[in-house]
Amino acid sequence: MGGALRRFEDIRCLVTGAADGIGHATAAMLLAEGGRVLVCDRNPAGLEALQGAAKLELDVTAEDAAERLMQAAQSELGGLDVLVNNAGIAAGAPVETLTDELWRQVLDVNLDAVFRISRAAIPLLKLSERGRIVNIGSVMSTMSSPAMGVYAVSKHAVAALTKTLALELGEYGITANYVRPGAIVTGLSRDAFDADENFRNFWVNKSALRRLGQPEDIANAIVFLASEEAAFITGHGLLVDGGALQTP
Ligand SMILES: NC(=O)c1ccc[n+]([C@@H]2O[C@H](COP(=O)([O-])OP(=O)(O)OC[C@H]3O[C@@H](n4cnc5c(N)ncnc54)[C@H](O)[C@@H]3O)[C@@H](O)[C@H]2O)c1
Repeated sequence: MGGALRRFEDIRCLVTGAADGIGHATAAMLLAEGGRVLVCDRNPAGLEALQGAAKLELDVTAEDAAERLMQAAQSELGGLDVLVNNAGIAAGAPVETLTDELWRQVLDVNLDAVFRISRAAIPLLKLSERGRIVNIGSVMSTMSSPAMGVYAVSKHAVAALTKTLALELGEYGITANYVRPGAIVTGLSRDAFDADENFRNFWVNKSALRRLGQPEDIANAIVFLASEEAAFITGHGLLVDGGALQTP
């Protein structure tokens, strides 16, 4: 969990969707490394364990979500250095039966909210000495799978948005990168892995390391991309999938 490093002393960080899974592990690591952290989630119970964080119950798809988050960053942290757009959902259906409603629902959380929150954060990040945006893509930022089309669309789009942010913000010393998790055991995926042994085994065997990932595996990569050490990395999509996409 970041060990004795204190790379984030006085660094102001915002993590969305921090009540569970990858976002929770990321916020905990940033706190452990001395960061000043603002967290939000639409389901706030899981935020309680993040001692020392400023907490906001908030649905990232709400009309005023981005504005509220930036106001909280100002009032609770006095600005913003690191934005981690983590909140996301996994849902889908075959295109033939995919409803407009489900299509909209997935894109609202996984893409539109990332766009709106990133846009609102830019003026604050420009004032930072070392602005960082870390978005969460997926192995599905470059591939798809049956019945997961809208999720794959959202994660391909997160990749394109992040590359654009990198190009537009580089001159301000702001980096923008995205992490691409493989199969990670979190609230989003646990039921699917538990319910279907074939699904679980598929991903375990696809991984060169023969295991599923844990939230900390991804949080370590997010925290690295948010750190000073990653200052010359931007527009990059970092695969953290145990080698799953290398399997023939
Ligand atoms: N778990 C995996 O295998 C995996 C793989 C690739 C990418 N990802 C991505 O990682 C990110 C985190 O997912 P996770 O696996 O930790 O899932 P998770 O369900 O454990 O955590 C996601 C958190 O986001 C919150 N959230 C969801 N919609 C929200 C909304 N509208 N407003 C506010 N909060 C909201 C949830 O309440 C939850 O606490 C997502 O972007 C997901 O797409 C996960």
